[in-house]
Amino acid sequence: MRAITSVAWGRIEMADLPEPLPGAGQIRVRQEASGIGAGDVLMAAGRPWIARPAFAAMLRPPILGRDVVGVVDAVGPGVTGFAVGDRVLGEGPHAWAGAVVLDVGSAAHLDPGIPAEAAAALPVSGVTALQALRMANVRTGSRLVVVGASGGVGHLAVQLGVHVGADVTAVCSAAHHARMRELGASAALDYRDVHWTDRGPWDAVLDLAGERPVAACLASLSPDGVYVSSAGTNGGPVLGPLPRLLGVALRGRFDRRATVLSASPRTEDLATVAEHVRTGAVVPWISRVVAPEDVHEALDAHPGGKQVVSFSGARSPHAG
Ligand SMILES: NC(=O)c1ccc[n+]([C@@H]2O[C@H](COP(=O)([O-])OP(=O)(O)OC[C@H]3O[C@@H](n4cnc5c(N)ncnc54)[C@H](OP(=O)(O)O)[C@@H]3O)[C@@H](O)[C@H]2O)c1
Repeated sequence: MRAITSVAWGRIEMADLPEPLPGAGQIRVRQEASGIGAGDVLMAAGRPWIARPAFAAMLRPPILGRDVVGVVDAVGPGVTGFAVGDRVLGEGPHAWAGAVVLDVGSAAHLDPGIPAEAAAALPVSGVTALQALRMANVRTGSRLVVVGASGGVGHLAVQLGVHVGADVTAVCSAAHHARMRELGASAALDYRDVHWTDRGPWDAVLDLAGERPVAACLASLSPDGVYVSSAGTNGGPVLGPLPRLLGVALRGRFDRRATVLSASPRTEDLATVAEHVRTGAVVPWISRVVAPEDVHEALDAHPGGKQVVSFSGARSPHAG
């Protein structure tokens, strides 16, 4: 099968590798499309350096990618609920390949009417957005700010927040503000012009950038507000966001309003985000679809929304 492999930090190549076999409790999926997220970019680059031993352990075999969308073509022993021919989405390692093995607990059924490229935005980014809003206790009437709203996770979080009736403010560059309003945000702020921490009080913060001081983030909360912080884009090449995340986690021991974002694939949550796409409550913003051999171009680009690698021949020009 064709696979996108990491041959050195910052160097990826196409390779022909043997197809994996599903073990107990696993299915094998004929891959249609996979998302390209911040985590994939970091793993391909080997950034931050402190994570390289962990990345190296995960890259055996050396295939990148985590989002899976396709049709089951083999089932392992003990699998119930999935059969050959089922269309599924899921999350697991070594996904940028023609065939991918998934644990059934990290997979869900997918409506045949949902295009593969749209579904490819959901396993990592959609489930992360859903679980983050749950951690932040977002509900009807919540004043929610999504920081990094124009990215793969952020644009889905904006729509999920709007769907539950939150009043959503999107923080991203001005070029994406019109789209944020189309997605239902009531306001949009440019992080280059204003500090979102000065515009509280917020009932819920999903911080996907991690650029503002933690004390300022917590000071911007309402009395029952919750601050959920991801790794973000900050930090140096060696430790990356680790010091900040440790800082947030430490604050969280004394102040329950501070939490570090952690998300993991669950069948129920995968099914929920896929259902939101089926009903039209959530519309993935697919900014570009590339062929496997062109994936390096997408790793260096920041068009907004989600970029997707297609294993079934779909392509798009770079559309904003
Ligand atoms: N399981 C997990 O915990 C999990 C899973 C997935 C992702 N994540 C984390 O979530 C974060 C976002 O991931 P992603 O895939 O959505 O990334 P992404 O698609 O690259 O989006 C990042 C967004 O951040 C915005 N941004 C950059 N600098 C900013 C700043 N100073 N203030 C506000 N926004 C800023 C960018 O907006 P503009 O383009 O408009 O400038 C961009 O849209 C990453 O830190 C990633 O590691 C965690």
